[in-house]
Amino acid sequence: MGKRIRELVDSDPQEHTITAEGWVRTKRDSKHFCFFEINDGSSLKSLQVIIDKTTDEIKHTVQQITTGSSVICTGMLAESPGKNQRVELKADSVELIGPAPADTYPLQKKRHSFEFLREIAHLRPRTNTISAVARVRSTMSMAVHRFFHERGFCYIHTPIITTSDCEGAGEMFRVTTLPMDKIPMQDGSPDYSRDFFGKTAGLTVSGQLEAETYALALKNVYTFGPTFRAENSNTSRHLAEFWMIEPEMAFCTLEGNMAAAEEFLKYVFAAVLEECAEDMELFNRWIQPGIIESLQGVVGSSFTHMPYTDAVQELERSGASFEYPVSWGMDLQSEHEKYLTEEICRGPVIVTDYPREIKAFYMKLNDDERTVRAMDVLVPRLGEIIGGSEREDRHDLLVKRIRESGLDPQDYWWYLDLRRYGSVPHSGFGLGFERAIQYVTGMQNIRDVIPFPRTVGSAEF
Ligand code: 4AD
Ligand code: MG
Repeated sequence: MGKRIRELVDSDPQEHTITAEGWVRTKRDSKHFCFFEINDGSSLKSLQVIIDKTTDEIKHTVQQITTGSSVICTGMLAESPGKNQRVELKADSVELIGPAPADTYPLQKKRHSFEFLREIAHLRPRTNTISAVARVRSTMSMAVHRFFHERGFCYIHTPIITTSDCEGAGEMFRVTTLPMDKIPMQDGSPDYSRDFFGKTAGLTVSGQLEAETYALALKNVYTFGPTFRAENSNTSRHLAEFWMIEPEMAFCTLEGNMAAAEEFLKYVFAAVLEECAEDMELFNRWIQPGIIESLQGVVGSSFTHMPYTDAVQELERSGASFEYPVSWGMDLQSEHEKYLTEEICRGPVIVTDYPREIKAFYMKLNDDERTVRAMDVLVPRLGEIIGGSEREDRHDLLVKRIRESGLDPQDYWWYLDLRRYGSVPHSGFGLGFERAIQYVTGMQNIRDVIPFPRTVGSAEF
């Protein structure tokens, strides 16, 4: 592997010949020289290359170099007289590897809208913003694993195909091999006993239930994988395929869960600030002014805690006008979540103890029997980025809640077994990875923080 551009642009002038490879960002010709910048995605910086058009061969090659073409250049890394860069490559040879015809290459040197870039998702990582998002995403993934690894959590791979609907919301994509044009029927419905798995199966909406089984054996575990939701939400915060990080901790109540979520988020944010400083400057300048300072503020302060009932009261008292008026018992809408964090708490807030009717069956019932030990972490600009809870660890109550939710306890026999054999208080949460990246980068649309977004009506690439 040759040196990456990032190392070259930051190094001192060198005495020996070096090779640089990448894609051309810009090119400028003068009578005797050709100047072009090459980038290889290792950083936002490009390397300036200058070549003296001494021979006909060089003249011919540089003539064909256009924005987007790939090149390998060899020469001396010398001090640059320009003020934009420390060094530049004085090339004595340049090899055009793959041309990019200027009349059809869609990425010309101008600012393209993110909407347009989504249509060329296979080329958009060659832009500054999308490559910065990719680097931040990678850094955040590593920070997630590091956080849990350093604390002794075991990384569990939960299944992608499942026969239980964790959230009980019926938003699963079905997985079947039944012939669509000739579905075997029985009593008027498809006969899934003849399907691949012998019963209905789908893509997982969450690895939580399976993670719980491992937590009740290994104490602290986490999952980090893709999850799928067939919800018809065409918003800037919803994907049909997104990644989720789900820690699950045995012998842990809601209080421990809240503390873990806060520590975890701060750790990941701090890692990005430290390891992606250059990319964060870009987001700070072009995407969300002030984002660096605001993230530093979040890392250095404490999250507000607020029970749902208080949150509803605060929202009612605020006198703000909402599209959906607030009242106790309703699920908080994105407008309420944003108002709560941006105007009332002015920072991240953990809302707890939601009404049982609006939360999943597995959340532990409070003594008031009206609310459950749920917790949502809400942040400015986005609203919910984490959803979690203490789990119902009492067998009979859990059976009741499963029935109440219109589900069949028999489908959850193994999950119920965990409450029959060595049950303990346990808790966990799920961080929507793309929402976290949106929060950190300030990117408006969730479709721009995942390489190939899957949303309602869209699965190109
Ligand atoms: O609140 P949710 O539905 O919680 C769960 O799935 C639990 N099983 C987690 C747990 O306790 N282990 O989803 C968790 C998070 C949300 O807070 C949100 O950030 C993200 O997942 N999320 C989505 N992100 C992108 N697109 C969607 N359609 C999402 N739905 C949820
Ligand atoms: Mg939720």
